[in-house]
Amino acid sequence: MTEGISRRRMLGIGAGLGAVTVGGLALSAGWARRPAATGAELRSEVPLPEAFSVPLPIPPVLAPVESTAEGDRYEIAQREVEAEILPGFSTRLWTYEGSFPGPTIESRRGVQTTVLHRNELPVPTVVHLHGGRTPAASDGYPTDLVLPGEWSEHSGHVGHGMADDRAVVTNVQREYGFPLDQRATMLWYHDHRMDFTAPAVWRGLAGMHFVRDDVEDALGLPGGDHEVPLMIADRAFDADGQLAYPSLDPTLTGEPGVEKPYLAGVLGDVVLVNGAPWPAHEVDTGLYRLRVLNASNARHYELEAVTDGGEILPLVQIGADQGLLAAPVRHDRLPIAPAERYDLLVDFGGLPIGSRVRLSNRLGTGRTADVMRFDVVREGTSAAVPETLADDLPEWDRSEAAVVRDLAFRAGRLDWDGSVGAMIRDFDPDKHHGWLIDGLPFDPGRADVTARFGDVEVWRLIADVHHPVHVHLVGFRILSRGGGEPLPHDAGLKDTVSLRPGESAEIITRFDGYRGRYLFHCHNAEHEDMGMMANLEIV
Ligand code: C2O
Ligand code: CU
Ligand code: CU
Repeated sequence: MTEGISRRRMLGIGAGLGAVTVGGLALSAGWARRPAATGAELRSEVPLPEAFSVPLPIPPVLAPVESTAEGDRYEIAQREVEAEILPGFSTRLWTYEGSFPGPTIESRRGVQTTVLHRNELPVPTVVHLHGGRTPAASDGYPTDLVLPGEWSEHSGHVGHGMADDRAVVTNVQREYGFPLDQRATMLWYHDHRMDFTAPAVWRGLAGMHFVRDDVEDALGLPGGDHEVPLMIADRAFDADGQLAYPSLDPTLTGEPGVEKPYLAGVLGDVVLVNGAPWPAHEVDTGLYRLRVLNASNARHYELEAVTDGGEILPLVQIGADQGLLAAPVRHDRLPIAPAERYDLLVDFGGLPIGSRVRLSNRLGTGRTADVMRFDVVREGTSAAVPETLADDLPEWDRSEAAVVRDLAFRAGRLDWDGSVGAMIRDFDPDKHHGWLIDGLPFDPGRADVTARFGDVEVWRLIADVHHPVHVHLVGFRILSRGGGEPLPHDAGLKDTVSLRPGESAEIITRFDGYRGRYLFHCHNAEHEDMGMMANLEIV
């Protein structure tokens, strides 16, 4: 570890988190009821469209440039474009292949998917396939930068001031290889650059990636236009109709971090679904499969589908982050934290033509209480929800655990001791706070958890405020929450667990697939950028 890393890291975190922490803890009872309060909400400065006046876009499916016995090859250019998000305004976006969300990739289980990403943006980028069982070299480690063309000559200091001898930096482009030998599910790809993930994703660097398999096919679930991907993300717009974000350095090349009021997370006042504000989508009276992703930086939602007659339509959950459940779970409302995905069936059968079903957000206030609307416009054919789904869920038992670890996700002063002595030489406890895991901010040079390949481990996670905790490479089961049983939406195989204020949860997994350096972190993207990330070495 070098002093350069930690000094810059601590300064980057900046002053002011103390107030948030104190306020957060003081308010934690209130936050438990209103968990959307992680962060401050930006207010848009342009007139916003009427809800449900814009049609729901469906992101294009990317065609491979080559399909052979070895697998499918794709190419994605990361580039800036202008797009109409709010009607009548042109908004500059950072995109994968010109669209936000980026193009959807469709893969079969076990068929190698190779994606050549070309960086035409003005900053370095890193691509991570969230939820992918990916070899470490393609997992998008935050210092494995792809430099824009103009940066290539000064590759001497490309590590962002972070000395990381293991970083593999490439110029202009990089090929990411995804074996995708994993259960069918919805993954998503997004930027993961050191210190600047949150603003880069906010500008548009996120897309969906589906893995399909025979288990799923055998169920005959709704497909085609009856399977609808929904990427939910909040944003705010400035007086020119550009995306607003409180970066300390809007070029995203210098000082990382956000202005003080937003240190707990950045929230927008506009809810986008597939890049459209509060859209409407026409459906028939059939059964629909909704693939829902919360790609927001910090906003939590609690989804509810309500008819114009005030009737709640059940959200029948058939899958979690990492694929199908054993059996469907019916919810009247469903909380979704940043980075979580749900695979849902919703039956519009029995509703008269002309009915409208709002997907609303019970954690929102004012306009953020709405998400989108389904308009029932024609007769469809109904289908039944299968009674059982998948029988290949791993059933790890606590008794198998080689290690039980405690990991605390908390804001606070750096809790240093001799082992990190060098890094805190100039530490000023009145100024330097951060989002920390076990008292430490992220440092690429430190192995926080070293797990033996093949071992089952139990992790006991504890949080101060809301922290959606994500582990790379593996799926896990939730064993307990708050010392009791998991909640109904905790079923299945997960890669992100939403810890509520003051809450603990136990997760269990087996570290297999690949060896190497991976990450776990809070997926509140601002917390992640401001230190709440750690290394997972699988050896
Ligand atoms: Cu979706 Cu490490 O992230
Ligand atoms: Cu991930
Ligand atoms: Cu967090």
